[in-house]
Amino acid sequence: MLAPRRVGARNPVNREVIVSEAPSTSAGTVRGEYQSGRGASAKPDTKVDSFRPRRMRQVAPVMPALPQGEVSAKIQRFLAERRPKTPCVIVDVDIVEGNYRALTAAMPQGRAYYAVKANPAREILARLRDLGSCFDVASPGEIELCLSVGIGGDRISYGNTIKKERDIAFARSRGVRLFAADSLSELQKIARAAPGSDVFVRLLWQCGGAEWPLSRKFGCSPKMAADLLVQARDLGLNPRGISFHVGSQQTDLTQYDQAIAEAARVFAIVEAQGITLDLVNVGGGFPARYRTDVAPIIAYGQVVETALARHFPGRAMTLIMEPGRSMVGDAGVIAAEVVLISRKDDDDPVRWVYLDIGKFSGLAETMDEAIKYRLRTPRDGRAVGPVVLAGPTCDSADILYETFNYELPLDLAEGDQILILSTGAYTTTYSSVAFNGFRPLKDYCI
Ligand SMILES: Cc1ncc(COP(=O)(O)O)c(C=O)c1O
Repeated sequence: MLAPRRVGARNPVNREVIVSEAPSTSAGTVRGEYQSGRGASAKPDTKVDSFRPRRMRQVAPVMPALPQGEVSAKIQRFLAERRPKTPCVIVDVDIVEGNYRALTAAMPQGRAYYAVKANPAREILARLRDLGSCFDVASPGEIELCLSVGIGGDRISYGNTIKKERDIAFARSRGVRLFAADSLSELQKIARAAPGSDVFVRLLWQCGGAEWPLSRKFGCSPKMAADLLVQARDLGLNPRGISFHVGSQQTDLTQYDQAIAEAARVFAIVEAQGITLDLVNVGGGFPARYRTDVAPIIAYGQVVETALARHFPGRAMTLIMEPGRSMVGDAGVIAAEVVLISRKDDDDPVRWVYLDIGKFSGLAETMDEAIKYRLRTPRDGRAVGPVVLAGPTCDSADILYETFNYELPLDLAEGDQILILSTGAYTTTYSSVAFNGFRPLKDYCI
């Protein structure tokens, strides 16, 4: 197959040489090719190559076509045709749309508020806007972003329980009327800066079963939640109900049932004091697919709807979902490159594989090896051996996977491309501005 190829070699003035129509063998490795050549027998372009030593060089093999469901055909085409500089993430917005449709079909009585923090790319927000989604935001910056793509304040929920009073006032001035709280102080700020607004109170949740727990920092005890809802009324706010987040990448579906049961107990206490509530916000937690298979979104929908019917019999609840990871995770693929392969001792069977992306350029969720991404290399299918995976920075915290048993092909080589799958969520925004001088993760929404 003839395909354009970016050789990636640099000439003496540090210019990348892009070669088109370079041949590749079925094994993928072309030996004896000039760096700028058009095949093993081609003469080097003397204009470009005049200063370069004419040594033989191994060229990285081309990524073979991957099965559908691994990487979308659109992303594969983009990678093959554009050969983007790595590291970068490519997000297929059609997959985001599919995920939104699947979620809203699974929970038809609910309203989706996309958690903008998962991936705030304008193309994603615009597509979800057109599909009728609402949006969960964490900051004035996310509010401004939503407004700038034509999303009105009436479609925004300010779901962060930690807000400055002036940020609440800003939100209100832009038409936001729905706020989260988990403390009296926060309610008082909302009452002053956004009087009369709708509020929901977030329950503290242990998040058992979640790969990325959101326990401890957010929410309050059920008793305190009940008190806060009454205090909200007394402060002139409109208490609507309860929210929780059972932890991100939650694979224990019973957590939703338990949390909805807890919400119902809070409702009963509050309603005994003459306040009618109507809102249950089940947050996120719906999964992407990393190394292990996960239940389909329809199973989550069944659990939530069954729990609502069981714990709020005969009542029509306003259901809110705040999906982040499940909307965009599987829609994105990171293209990265192997920078260095080394060992800590000549006899050490474990290779250290350093990539051009690490914890500080988008893969923060590898912290404690919590999120375990699937990797694809052009040499998949060959014999593998154990590796430690690390990023490119001069920081020893920048190790991606050391204790979990990752294995990669034994003939993996420096310069090989690595695809990191299901990386559409929580990658671009976690990427630092320029730690060690590495640029932020570039994204392409296609
Ligand atoms: C308030 C809130 N809602 C929703 C989400 C999205 O959660 P997930 O990515 O698990 O869907 C988050 C994630 O941090 C959150 O903080």
